[in-house]
Amino acid sequence: MHNLYESDDLLNQYLLFHYASRDAFFPYDFPVTEALDFSKRCVWEGVDFDLLPRKTRALDLGCSVGRSAFEMSQVFDSVLGIDYSEAFIHAAQVLKESGSHPVERLISGHQSISEKVVLESSTERERVSFEVGDAENLRDDLGDFDCVLACNLICRLKNPMALLNRLSSLVRPNGQLFMTTPFTWLESFTPKEHWLGTNAEDSFSGLREVLEGQGGFKLLKSWDMPFLIREHARKFQFSIAQASRWVRVAE
Ligand SMILES: C[S@@+](CC[C@H](N)C(=O)[O-])C[C@H]1O[C@@H](n2cnc3c(N)ncnc32)[C@H](O)[C@@H]1O
Repeated sequence: MHNLYESDDLLNQYLLFHYASRDAFFPYDFPVTEALDFSKRCVWEGVDFDLLPRKTRALDLGCSVGRSAFEMSQVFDSVLGIDYSEAFIHAAQVLKESGSHPVERLISGHQSISEKVVLESSTERERVSFEVGDAENLRDDLGDFDCVLACNLICRLKNPMALLNRLSSLVRPNGQLFMTTPFTWLESFTPKEHWLGTNAEDSFSGLREVLEGQGGFKLLKSWDMPFLIREHARKFQFSIAQASRWVRVAE
C-alpha cells in the first residue's frame, strides 16, 4: 500500500510542523474565529456597496450551496448562482424552496449528528435562482451584472484564463468583481501550464496583469481573508485566501 508518509510533500510538511520559526510557519496574527462565516463575509466585506451605481443583477460563480448568493439577495433585485456541481445546485435549490436542508454533522468515525441548516429570515429567497453551469464555458445569453463574485474558484478551474477572459463582458462598467483564492494550485484541477504567474512572478501579480490589462478592471483593494472548513469535531482546514475587489473601468 502507498505510504503517504514516504512522500516529499509530507516530509516537508512535518519538518516545518516540528522545526519552523513562527514567522516562517504562520506569518499572520488573526485569531481562528476571524475565519468563521466566510461565504457571508465575502459579500459584506468583499463588495463596496456605496460605490455601486446600480444594484439590479448579481452573479455568484462557483456558488456551491448558495450562501453568498442568498446574502446578496438582501441588496440586489436578482441574484444568479452558478456551479458545476449538480449536488450543490440541488441543495441550493432545496434551501431556496424550503428555507432549510438536512445535514450530517460528523463528530468522528461513525458518530454524527443529523440536523438542519436554515436560511436567515433576512434572505429574499424569491430573488435568487441557481443553475448548473461551467464557469469556463458560460452560456452566451447570460447578460451582464452589477456585481460578480468568484470566491475560491479560479484554482479549481482547468483553465482560469477561460473565465478571466469572459469577466469584462460579465461585469458592467463601474460594476464590481470580488474574488478570493488561496492559490492552491493542484495539477489534479489545473495543468501547470495554466497556473497564473510564473516562477519570477507570483500568482496575484499574474491575476492583476490579466485583469488590469485586457480585462479592463482596476484593483480597488486586496487583503487576506482567512476561512475555516470543518472536517470533524476536532479537525478543520484553515486557509487564508487572497481577497481582491475590482471595478470595471467605464470606457
Ligand atoms: C472551493 S469551492 C468554493 C465554493 C464557494 N464559492 C465558497 O467560497 O465557499 C469551489 C466551487 O467551484 C465549483 N466549480 C469547480 N469548477 C467549476 C466550473 N468549471 N464552473 C463552475 N463551478 C465550478 C465547485 O463545484 C465548488 O462549488
